Amino acid sequence: MEKLGKRVSYQKAGQQVQIQFEKGTAFVNVLTDRIMNVFLPLETKDHRSKAIEGDKEVPTEFQVAEAEGALVISTSNVVVKVYDDFFVDFYDKNGKLLCADSRDGRVFQSQISERFIEFLKAEGHEVPDATDFDYPVQVIKKIQGDESFYGLGDKTGFLNKRHYEYENWNSDIPQAHTDSYKALYKSIPFLITLRNDCVYGLFFDNTYKSYVNLGKENEGYLYYGADAGNLDYYFIAGETMPEIVEGYTYLTGRTPLPQLWTLGYQQSRWGYECAGDIRDIAEHYRDLKIPCDTIHFDIDYMDGYRVFTWDDKAFGKPGAIIDEIGKQGFKVVTIIDPGVKLDPGYSKYDEGIENHYFATTPEGEVYVNAVWPGDAVYPDYGKPETRAWWADNQKFLLDLGVRGVWNDMNEPASFRGELPEDVVFTDEDRPINHAKMHNVYGHLMSKATYEGLKKYDGKRPFVITRACYAGTQKYSTVWTGDNQSLWSHLQMAVPQLCNLGLSGLAFAGTDVGGFGADCTPELLCRWVQVGCFSPLFRNHSSKGSTYQEPWRFDKQTIDINRKFVELRYRLLPYLYDLFRECEKTGLPIIRPLVLHYEKDEEVKNLNTEFLFGEHILVAPVLEQGATKKMVYLPEGTWYDFETGKEYAGGQYYLVDAPLDVCPMFVKAGSVIPTYDVVQYVGEKPYDTLKLLTYPGKGSYVHYQDNGEDFKYQDGEYALYEFHNENGVLTAAMSHAGYRPYKKITSTNVVTNETTEVVVAK
Ligand code: NOJ
Repeated sequence: MEKLGKRVSYQKAGQQVQIQFEKGTAFVNVLTDRIMNVFLPLETKDHRSKAIEGDKEVPTEFQVAEAEGALVISTSNVVVKVYDDFFVDFYDKNGKLLCADSRDGRVFQSQISERFIEFLKAEGHEVPDATDFDYPVQVIKKIQGDESFYGLGDKTGFLNKRHYEYENWNSDIPQAHTDSYKALYKSIPFLITLRNDCVYGLFFDNTYKSYVNLGKENEGYLYYGADAGNLDYYFIAGETMPEIVEGYTYLTGRTPLPQLWTLGYQQSRWGYECAGDIRDIAEHYRDLKIPCDTIHFDIDYMDGYRVFTWDDKAFGKPGAIIDEIGKQGFKVVTIIDPGVKLDPGYSKYDEGIENHYFATTPEGEVYVNAVWPGDAVYPDYGKPETRAWWADNQKFLLDLGVRGVWNDMNEPASFRGELPEDVVFTDEDRPINHAKMHNVYGHLMSKATYEGLKKYDGKRPFVITRACYAGTQKYSTVWTGDNQSLWSHLQMAVPQLCNLGLSGLAFAGTDVGGFGADCTPELLCRWVQVGCFSPLFRNHSSKGSTYQEPWRFDKQTIDINRKFVELRYRLLPYLYDLFRECEKTGLPIIRPLVLHYEKDEEVKNLNTEFLFGEHILVAPVLEQGATKKMVYLPEGTWYDFETGKEYAGGQYYLVDAPLDVCPMFVKAGSVIPTYDVVQYVGEKPYDTLKLLTYPGKGSYVHYQDNGEDFKYQDGEYALYEFHNENGVLTAAMSHAGYRPYKKITSTNVVTNETTEVVVAK
C-alpha cells in the first residue's frame, strides 16, 4: 500500500476528522466514545458497509489537537494518534498504549534454502515467497508480547489464534476440516486482542479476499491484508472482553430473539428421499420419546433440484407430509440453494431472465456454472429487486407449511470451478465484480430470506445459512458446514462455536454426529453432550454415510441421546433467557471461559470446556474411550449441576464421566430456570417454572413471552427478578406484560428441598 507521506492539515466535519497528507486524504470517524473508524478511500469515497446498517454515530465529545508530531483525537475513553504516512496508534484514557502500527513494514524470512524450493513445489507443497508481499490494502500492528487473539468466525484450529494465519474467502470444503485450512464458509474479519492488562477489538470491514496473520510471519506484528477495496477498520475499546463483544455487536448487529421451538432438537439428513422417510423419522422420535421439534428437508424434496418447487412423485401432494407430521408437533425446515436451474420454461429461471436478476459475464451474458440441478445461474442478491423477488419466493414455502429456511451452497458453491473474479454482480446501484461480492453473497441471500419470511409469516424468521459475513447474525443462524464424524471435529466444535459467538454469531451449531464419514455410537453420545448446549442443536449427516439417528445404534445410545435431549428441553427457559440477553448485549450463548475470566492464565487457551451463559460450565468428554475428564474451574465456588457437590475454583479436578455423563458445574449463587420435559415446544403450555438454586448469593432475571412473534417489542412479555440468598429465594415481577406462570417452585440442589415461590407484584 502506498504511503501517504507527511501530514499537512486537518479539518473537523461533525464527528469526522479529515486528515490531509502529501499524497491523499484519510479519515478518522468518531462513532462513540469507544469506537473509532479508520478510513482510507482507496477504492470508493463512501463506506457502503454490508456488515453495518444504519447510522452508528452517537453524539460524542472529542478533542483534536497537535502534540509531539501527531494529530491527537481523544474521547473520554480512547486516544488516537495519527502520524505521517497515516500510522495510527490507540491509547486508553490513562495514556497506556493499546495498539500501534508497525513502522518497519513486513519482514520476510525465508526458511527454505533456494535449492529446495523447486523440489518442494514439484511435490505440490506450498512455498511462501517474498512476492506474496504487501497487499494493496494492508495494516500491520505491533505485537507487544503477551497477546492472545480470539474471534475470526468459524476458522479451524484452537481458540487462541496467536501464531496462525487465516484467509477470508468463503469456501465450500467437503474434505475433513483440519487446521491447515485457512478459510471455511464464513468471513468475519473481527479480532479480539487480549493482553494481560488490556483488551480491544479490531474489525476490518472489507469484503474482498483478505488475509490475517497473527504473529506467524513474524513474532513482532500481526497484519491484515486485502486484495482490493478501502482500508476501513474499527477500533473498539472497552474495559473487559464482554464490552468488546458488546461494542462489535453494537456496530454489526445482534442475534434477534428467535422463536422458542427453534431452540428445540432438530433432525436432518441428506438422504430423506420421500415422504415415507420423513414419516418414519417422525414416528421413531415420538415412539422412543426422544423430544424433537424439527425435521429438515434436504434437496431431495425439490423437483429436479429446482428451487421453490416440490417433488410430488416422492413427497406426495405439496405440503401434505408437512401437515401430517405437523399434527405430531413437528415443524419443517426446507433447504434452498442459490443456484437456479438453467431451464427455459421453469418459472424461476424465466422470471430471473426476464427481469435481469442473475449475475452476468463482463460481456453481459447470464453467467452459467453448475450445482445440484446441473447448469445453473446465480441470483444477484446485491440488487434490491433480486432480493425482493427472492423474498417473495419464500411465500411458496410458507404456503406449504414450512417454518424455517436453510440457505446452503451460498459461498457461492460451483461445481465447474470457482466463479471468475470478473463475473458481474451489483452493489445496490453500481456494478461490482465477484471478487467483491463473494464474501457477502451468503449474507445478502440470508437477508432476502429473512425479509421474505418476516413479511409473509409475521413470526420471528428462522433462517440458517452456511456462508456469511460479519453482521449476518441480524438475519440468520449458522452451522459450521460439512464437518465429519471424527473425534477431532468434535474437539474443534468447542473452540469453533466459542469463536463464532465472540464474532457476533451467537446462534450457531455443528452437525451433531458429524456430516461426512461414519459416526459411531460413542461419538454420537459424546457429540449430543456438546450439541445440547449448542444454540442450534441439529443431528445431520450426508448421503452415503452411516445413518446416525439415535435408534440406528443400540439401546444405550438411544437412552443417552434421550437424556441429553431432555436436558436441553429442561434448560429451555435458561437458554431463551440467554437469547434475550444476547439481543440486548450481543453476548453469546456458548462462551469460552476467557470471556468472563480474562485475567486467568489457565483459560486463555482452554479448548475443552465452555460456559453455557455465565452460570453453567460444561466440560464435555471429547476423546474416544475416555471416562474421566480433567476439569478446570475458575475462581469462586462451583457446584455439580445434578448432585450439588461443592468444588473450590481456581483448581483442576479429575471427575468421573462415564458415557452417560457430561460434567456440568454451576456457579455459586446461581438460579437456573427449568421447564418440565415436553416432546416438542407447544405440546403443553409452560405453566410451571422450576428454579434450581445453588448456595451463595446471586440474582437472576427471567424473561417470558409467547415465543413466536414480535409482540414482545410492544411490551407483551414478563420479567421476573429472583434473588438468591443462600438458597432462600425472593421473587418479584418487574414487567407484567404476559400471562404469569401458574406455579413457580425452587429446589435447593444441595439439600434437595423444594418450596413454592411467591412472586411479589
Ligand atoms: C452441503 C451442505 O453443507 C449439507 O449440509 C447438505 O446436506 C448438502 N449440501 C446437500 O444439500
